[in-house]
Amino acid sequence: MKLLVTGGAGYIGSVVAARLLEAGHEVVVLDDCSTGHADAVPSGAALVRATLRAAAGDVLAEGFDGVLHFAAKSLVGESVEKPGLYWDKNLGESLALLDAMRVHRVPRIVFSSTAATYGEPERTPIVETDPTRPTNPYGASKLAIDTVLAEYARMYGIGGVSLRYFNVAGAYGTYGERHTVETHIIPNVLKVPLGERESVSIFGTDYATADGTCVRDYIHVVDLATAHLLALEACAPGEHEIFNLGSGAGYSVREVIDVCREVTGEPIPAVEGPRRPGDPAVLIASSAKITERLGWKPERDLRSMVADAWAFIRS
Ligand code: UFG
Repeated sequence: MKLLVTGGAGYIGSVVAARLLEAGHEVVVLDDCSTGHADAVPSGAALVRATLRAAAGDVLAEGFDGVLHFAAKSLVGESVEKPGLYWDKNLGESLALLDAMRVHRVPRIVFSSTAATYGEPERTPIVETDPTRPTNPYGASKLAIDTVLAEYARMYGIGGVSLRYFNVAGAYGTYGERHTVETHIIPNVLKVPLGERESVSIFGTDYATADGTCVRDYIHVVDLATAHLLALEACAPGEHEIFNLGSGAGYSVREVIDVCREVTGEPIPAVEGPRRPGDPAVLIASSAKITERLGWKPERDLRSMVADAWAFIRS
């Protein structure tokens, strides 16, 4: 297929673009490189460096079989500080993209949604029919795009799949996480053995969990990429489907740090600090729906996520 990958200069977009090329697809990346890196775009893909609003129409006019939509602002804290930015970049630019798809008759889209659409869960594991009550503008903007996708499917026959990612980690060879502002736990822990930080902070030790720290469901970026390839094939005209993507297992912050110690062989001092505002205690996905419907299963464990991230950041 001829595919447009928005945000293909970013962490997840670049890994998926690489896997799509390996599977024999033709890939064009559309990215303004505001947070992504032009040199992260796989060499077999063409790069159009522009915003979706400026360029989606012209690019899609060339004729495409599908879109994988990763381009987004994705920092929860920043979204609370600058909600307008998140509504504009996430929802506004997605509307421009979807409308260009409608005009140029692009039949399918796979969208990067998030666990943040659920907010503080009433129960775990979270299933796709659970209530969506996002607790920040980032999650709210992603939920709004899920809703718009359902409307574009109903009105214009586009086939859409929203994949709700839980905590994505790991790397794929030379493709990995390179955020200028790094908030995620694994790359932050690995900065200690890399010599860029003295210690890692544990945000909160008084949660109602076994060891008092937050529990998250980590998924390897390569397993996540596999789900995108399956979702692309599964897009059905006029239908919008939502699938959670996690491993179904939870790891506490302390357990993540322990795995980083094992993989790197370094002591990694950890400093206990206060809670980070807005963090739910436990987020674990049920991925039963995507396993049942698309035959997807995670194949890589937390140790392999940390080992691949560690190899990537040292390279
Ligand atoms: N944490 C620390 N120290 C750090 C960084 C993180 O203790 O230096 C903790 C956090 O408080 C949290 C856990 O590690 O309990 C995981 O934090 P991340 O920032 O790695 O990931 P989040 O669970 O906050 O975020 C993920 C996605 C977001 C998404 C969110 C949904 O990365 O895009 O899940 O809640 F919005």
